[in-house]
Amino acid sequence: MSSQGTGTVVLVLLSLLTPGCMADEYPFKMCVTSIRRIVDLSNQNRTSFPEFLPNTTEYLDISHNPIKSITAEAFPRLPLLCFLKATFCGLREISPSVFQHLPALQFLNLSSNEFRSVPAVSLPRLTFLDLSENLFEGYRLPESFQNLTNLQVLSLGSKAAQSVLLDDFKPLANISLHHLVLGAGVPWRAYEPGALGMLSPQKLSLYVDFCGRFDVFNDLLVDLNATRLSALRFLTVFSDDCDVTVDPFLNVRSMPYLRKLTVENTWINSSFLQIFLTTICLAPLQEFFFVNITYSEDKPDGVQFHFHPADRNISMRAVTFDKVIHYQYRYPIFNMSFGDALNLKYLKFSGSGMNILPCKILTTMQTLETLDVSDNLLSDLGFWWPSCSYTSAFPSLKRLLMSKNRFASLSFISKQVHAMRRLESLDLSFNSIYLDERCNWPAHLIEINLGNNNLGNDVFKHLSPNFERIYLSKTGITAITQEDLSGFPKLTHLQLSFNSIKTLPEQLSAPNLIRLFVDQNAITTLSQEVLVGLPQLQILKVGNNPFICSCDLHWFLIGLNTSLLLDWPLDYMCSAPVKFAGLPLSEYKISAIACETWLQTAVAFAVLLSVATAAGLIFYKLDGVWYTKMLWVWIRVKRRGKKRSHLLKNMSFSYHAFISYSHKDADFVNGELAPSLEGAGFSLCVHERDFVPGEWIIDNIINCVESSYKTLFVLSKDFVRSEWCNYELFFAQHREINIQQDSLVFLLLEPIPADCLPKKYLRLRTLLRQQTYLEWPKDEWKRQVFWASLKSMLHMADKSIVLRDAAADLADTAALLTNQS
Ligand SMILES: *[C@@H]1O[C@H](CO)[C@@H](O)[C@H](O)[C@H]1NC(C)=O
Ligand SMILES: *[C@@H]1O[C@H](CO)[C@@H](O)[C@H](O)[C@H]1NC(C)=O
Ligand SMILES: *[C@@H]1O[C@H](CO)[C@@H](O)[C@H](O)[C@H]1NC(C)=O
Ligand SMILES: *[C@@H]1O[C@H](CO)[C@@H](O)[C@H](O)[C@H]1NC(C)=O
Ligand SMILES: *[C@@H]1O[C@H](CO)[C@@H](O)[C@H](O)[C@H]1NC(C)=O
Ligand SMILES: *[C@@H]1O[C@H](CO)[C@@H](O)[C@H](O)[C@H]1NC(C)=O
Ligand SMILES: *[C@@H]1O[C@H](CO)[C@@H](O)[C@H](O)[C@H]1NC(C)=O
Ligand SMILES: *[C@@H]1O[C@H](CO)[C@@H](O)[C@H](O)[C@H]1NC(C)=O
Ligand SMILES: *[C@@H]1O[C@H](CO)[C@@H](O)[C@H](O)[C@H]1NC(C)=O
Ligand SMILES: *[C@@H]1O[C@H](CO)[C@@H](O)[C@H](O)[C@H]1NC(C)=O
Ligand SMILES: *[C@@H]1O[C@H](CO)[C@@H](O)[C@H](O)[C@H]1NC(C)=O
Repeated sequence: MSSQGTGTVVLVLLSLLTPGCMADEYPFKMCVTSIRRIVDLSNQNRTSFPEFLPNTTEYLDISHNPIKSITAEAFPRLPLLCFLKATFCGLREISPSVFQHLPALQFLNLSSNEFRSVPAVSLPRLTFLDLSENLFEGYRLPESFQNLTNLQVLSLGSKAAQSVLLDDFKPLANISLHHLVLGAGVPWRAYEPGALGMLSPQKLSLYVDFCGRFDVFNDLLVDLNATRLSALRFLTVFSDDCDVTVDPFLNVRSMPYLRKLTVENTWINSSFLQIFLTTICLAPLQEFFFVNITYSEDKPDGVQFHFHPADRNISMRAVTFDKVIHYQYRYPIFNMSFGDALNLKYLKFSGSGMNILPCKILTTMQTLETLDVSDNLLSDLGFWWPSCSYTSAFPSLKRLLMSKNRFASLSFISKQVHAMRRLESLDLSFNSIYLDERCNWPAHLIEINLGNNNLGNDVFKHLSPNFERIYLSKTGITAITQEDLSGFPKLTHLQLSFNSIKTLPEQLSAPNLIRLFVDQNAITTLSQEVLVGLPQLQILKVGNNPFICSCDLHWFLIGLNTSLLLDWPLDYMCSAPVKFAGLPLSEYKISAIACETWLQTAVAFAVLLSVATAAGLIFYKLDGVWYTKMLWVWIRVKRRGKKRSHLLKNMSFSYHAFISYSHKDADFVNGELAPSLEGAGFSLCVHERDFVPGEWIIDNIINCVESSYKTLFVLSKDFVRSEWCNYELFFAQHREINIQQDSLVFLLLEPIPADCLPKKYLRLRTLLRQQTYLEWPKDEWKRQVFWASLKSMLHMADKSIVLRDAAADLADTAALLTNQS
């Protein structure tokens, strides 16, 4: 290995600002199961909580309202609330019993309020608590913090708190914090040694100005060393006008457990940087971050740093420079050499305005595995400067990240990366890439990110068949075909988010595909067949597409294991039809019946069958057969009624009475009734005797009823049971209504309680109630009265009238008979 490498990093430093990452996104995903459970009441000039909030609320933001204080009475009970943000509310107090209303709370953000002391938060499930930017005078934590057993991230800060006392953090002694953030950018005038030694967070962020207080700084480091802290982050560790001459970080050299050191939001002079670099090289640190640094060259020769100890290597493996602003706005001078001592694996140099990468760097960073030069001003020739001569660049490099620069020609880049013999992954997102000639990719490159470049559908023709992971988000792709994908037999990851793809081809086949992202496209529906060609698929993202909520998505809602979907359910909404627009797909309920044809048929058949069965049952239960027959009879009667209307007008009959009786009561009729009445000169129509043989029995009944002045019913239990008797009754009733005459006579042979009659004899029941009837008396002596009343009832008509039309009637009956057969 060639020995001494001296790299002069030439930089054009411009002030570049990138948007900060969204701090709220993580809890949002953790907490919210449906978009409907989010309540945002921020910026509404409210002075109190609303009286009613849905008890299913999971996420509540009430920030930027002048609420001032929260009492338990005024706070709704929200058993599912997981996230509560009440920042910039001018809060001075919060009643501890409020927390009893929020048993599920995990994220509580009360930063930027006016608490004069740390509020007594007591929430066993709380994981994130932000109390930064408040007005408490010290860091004394209330006893209730003992109960925050799940707390992972705690942020505490107040401009009024300028001293830390020994017992301030005692309640947290037994809680293993992941990250503790302390301070509000003001100096700490006093620090009682041991105060932070009680805590054991994995990571500590100190937003404290230590300018001129290096004694405090050292006490702190000793305590943090004792707690075996592994990650330490300083925000604005010195104010901009601070004159730093000695090295305050000297003690970091003897902190064997510290792995990561971050210096953020600070002004750094080149003379101090030179001192600081020595400390970093000698400390046991592995990762070092410089974030948002204003760098100023206070000496004309910039940074001159040469580290070549024979007896030791630098333990540093990862160095990050993120957002470096060069105060002088000219090429800064870094003349540094490390020999073999520097074995960096990771180097990030971003947000610095760098436009040319020095030749030396390409060849000297022998061990570098990841180089991140994103967010600079590099172009094709700025990175691969034509006058640099080398055959191998970054011999160990596996990942090269060059997003947010000015790279342009894909074919040029594909040729250049051949010099990086180990390169596996290339990130060219957010550039100005265009497709020109054919690309010639090295076989070892298996991952490429071309996201946020305007490439279009032809991009697939310019990629290597060796690619396993292809990221093409926001590249202007409008369609994807199986042909496009068949060129990549090893494909495992495909990202096509933010394009304009309308459908996924049904015969898609990618046997090794594990992850597929097609969210934020124009997909309206997803066919089940698509998944058939993707047997290895483990993660799918299809959210934020304009889904048409119809049967085509039915399989998706019921058949798909949603743990496959990374963005379920929040990002899935119906966009059409209009009545479902905006409805979360997870709440779109469509029944299997509405969608599956075979099921429809089956259900239709089943329904039809059961309706038919039910109808049949009802028909049977309600004596449908009987009523049908009656209907038939009624129609016949109507027909006959018309023909005989002249006869009825004249009131002429062949018989005094037609006797309707049950066959079982024949003894009574033939032995007692008929002889008695006929003996008294009445003419009777008695069936069996007077029915015309061979004629249909109903015609016989009708004839008899119509040609009789009265119809006499011999009622008994047997009568009720007899079907024919009921026809007779039905017909007689009908006649009674037609001619408005009292033509029915009831003779009760044995008592029949009206209520015991079956329902179909509703008419008989009412008749028995309304009409007078004769009871056949058991006592012999009463029978005289019986016969007398019966005879008087039949006697009303003149015998002559009855017999006058007998001949005509018989002729008519004969005519009907021929019609019938
Ligand atoms: C709390 O809210 C403030 C103001 O919006 C925000 O800056 C901060 O990141 C939030 N804290 C957490 C832990 O998300
Ligand atoms: C907020 O409400 C107060 C009274 O409650 C009113 O005086 C003030 O103008 C309101 N502010 C805004 C921005 O609406
Ligand atoms: C919300 O309130 C309704 C009725 O008021 C109740 O049925 C339901 O169980 C409550 N839900 C929760 C999560 O407490
Ligand atoms: C801690 O929680 C327990 C049980 O919930 C309770 O009895 C105790 O008062 C709480 N301690 C403090 C200091 O709030
Ligand atoms: C922490 O735990 C130890 C032993 O388990 C106990 O003695 C001590 O009182 C606890 N401290 C607090 C503040 O709960
Ligand atoms: C840190 O602790 C180790 C022993 O664990 C000790 O050797 C070293 O001197 C300590 N460093 C500081 C700065 O206290
Ligand atoms: C940087 O150098 C300038 C000029 O020499 C000096 O005024 C300033 O205090 C220094 N700042 C730091 C942080 O060293
Ligand atoms: C960067 O640091 C400066 C102080 O040096 C600070 O004023 C500014 O707000 C910081 N910017 C960001 C984005 O944090
Ligand atoms: C430093 O690292 C190099 C390369 O990894 C190795 O050859 C050398 O022995 C190491 N030297 C010491 C003192 O550990
Ligand atoms: C860089 O440092 C080396 C060794 O001290 C010196 O020979 C060389 O001239 C310096 N280069 C620049 C450009 O300052
Ligand atoms: C869904 O898939 C996950 C793993 O991917 C598995 O653990 C779970 O059992 C599956 N659920 C169903 C209902 O198949």
